Amino acid sequence: MKKLISQYRRKTRKSSKLFELSKKYHVDGVSHNIRFFKPYPFVTKSGKDKFLIDVDSNKYVDYWMGHWALILGHAPRPVKKELQKQLEADWMHGTVNEATILFSEILEKNVPVAEKIRYVVTGAEATMYAVRIARSVTGKKTIAKIDGGWHGYSSDLLKTINWPFPESESSGLVDEKHIVSLPYNDLEKSLEILKSVKKDLAATIIEPVLGGGGCIPATKDYLFGIQEFVHKNNSLFLLDEIVTGFRFRFGCLYPTMKLDPDIVTLGKIVGGGMPIGVMAGKKEIMDIANTSVNKKSKRSYVGGGTFSANPATMTAGHATLYHLKKNQSSLYSKINKLGDMARKQLTKVFDGNVITTGMGSLFMTHFAKKGISEITNANQAAKCDIVLLNNYHFEMIVNDGIFFLPGKLGAISSAHSDSDIKHMIQSSARFSEKI
Ligand SMILES: Cc1ncc(COP(=O)(O)O)c(C=O)c1O
Repeated sequence: MKKLISQYRRKTRKSSKLFELSKKYHVDGVSHNIRFFKPYPFVTKSGKDKFLIDVDSNKYVDYWMGHWALILGHAPRPVKKELQKQLEADWMHGTVNEATILFSEILEKNVPVAEKIRYVVTGAEATMYAVRIARSVTGKKTIAKIDGGWHGYSSDLLKTINWPFPESESSGLVDEKHIVSLPYNDLEKSLEILKSVKKDLAATIIEPVLGGGGCIPATKDYLFGIQEFVHKNNSLFLLDEIVTGFRFRFGCLYPTMKLDPDIVTLGKIVGGGMPIGVMAGKKEIMDIANTSVNKKSKRSYVGGGTFSANPATMTAGHATLYHLKKNQSSLYSKINKLGDMARKQLTKVFDGNVITTGMGSLFMTHFAKKGISEITNANQAAKCDIVLLNNYHFEMIVNDGIFFLPGKLGAISSAHSDSDIKHMIQSSARFSEKI
């Protein structure tokens, strides 16, 4: 490892200097906790198609893809063209704009629950407001989430994210007592917990594929069982599709499982690389946020904010969805196949030392420790060898110009090809020989 770190330092001298400066100005040198990795993250100069290029001109085939948002790769032409046109005109009004209406037309047609939509600027805001709406509609306080579920930094949902789950995630939180946490894919135990809080249960919020918690798909029976309980007990079923929306097909994942969520939150892909969060929900529920009709004491007071539905984001989002729609059959079958290939080949080259998880174009490699034979929840994922995973990703960065944010899952974009996956597998095979 020492040799590898010296090699990295030699390759990234400019990054090293710039990151020293970044540490002077920014907490931990970064603007999002997960962007730091040891000894220091390289500093990016630009991104193009499947590549990230750092300030020392090292080129990396990128599987981080902007927090998994960039399904068309970096700066894709169809989005760039429309965004350039918009920027040529202007990029901020703070008033109603046509681009938003055009964008919402696509969402409404392709996300069945999107009878009413509200735009914000981050996924964290979207889930925060979804929780507020659920509390307003039901008059109850408790929110159930999943062990390892990540919904952004909203105080309402900051619990059981990082291992060890029972430990508090942060000082400064006052609402933790109103959050309960469920073991993913374990319906019996989850229902037991839900029963214990059912009188005060406002909502359950779930990712249909646990992203940050280990790239783990939920079973249909699990989601269905939770939804059934929640609805029987006058609570809301909130689905967080911020990672999964438009990732596997043109639309959300939930219609493929015939689920009936009350609000779906979206983000990442649908912003086309610009900042976005979306709440899309049933009319009778979303209407509680209507300030023209509801009195102050009745309404649920939710944003936007200064930059919500700004024309640049709406244009980039619209261009992305338009391109995805036009190319949906070839594009999704290509990236989903590449994901299958990655999972299959990684399992093979690591010869029993790893468990690969994921779905479609999302995949993750877990170095299983003794006693872990499957990964169906975040508790099992957290017990895998995280240090080895970080070393594996770091070695790919240094030796092979392949970038996974160390420790995180990989996302394949339409800019990736067969040969990229093969290259990543060869690099993995070299690492596997050393462990
Ligand atoms: C499932 C899920 N929900 C919400 C968020 C928060 O989104 P943002 O980082 O835009 O606040 C994320 C971010 O990774 C996420 O993965």
